[in-house]
Amino acid sequence: MRRIISLTVNGVVRELAVEPRRTLLELLREDLGMTGTKRGCSIGDCGSCTVLLDGVATFSCLTLAIQADGCAVETVEGLAESGKLNSLQQAFVERGAIQCGFCTPGMLMTATELLRCNRHPSEQDIRRAISGNLCRCTGYQKIVEAIKAASEDTA
Ligand code: FES
Ligand code: FES
Repeated sequence: MRRIISLTVNGVVRELAVEPRRTLLELLREDLGMTGTKRGCSIGDCGSCTVLLDGVATFSCLTLAIQADGCAVETVEGLAESGKLNSLQQAFVERGAIQCGFCTPGMLMTATELLRCNRHPSEQDIRRAISGNLCRCTGYQKIVEAIKAASEDTA
């Protein structure tokens, strides 16, 4: 049996009928066609599915769609401003923080939450914040540098 839910995704109100077992990740990728949010492990280990749920970095693979009823969801698709990469995205590009890119959407959402809460994070703050986001390519150093650069950019 499906239930009607209403949520705001990147500022747009969406109303959908969903099965109670449907995850927020499935809703985003399969129902809304928003494939920026990645499915890695589906069990809360990798962080590639991270979105902001009412401003809080959340694994969408572990969140039921019905739990997002009435909430504001932000995904990587919502980060660009007027069609341009925002300063955080730009820093990832410029600092070489992207290789295969699979972890990038989740990293960006985690970093977005961090920079909203702490505009001048230390390296330790950054490493702690992204500790739930796995990257198999970069060795993390470039990602840390990119987040640091973005934080200095908004000084
Ligand atoms: S896909 Fe959600 S934590 Fe890996
Ligand atoms: S850039 Fe490939 S997993 Fe992070």
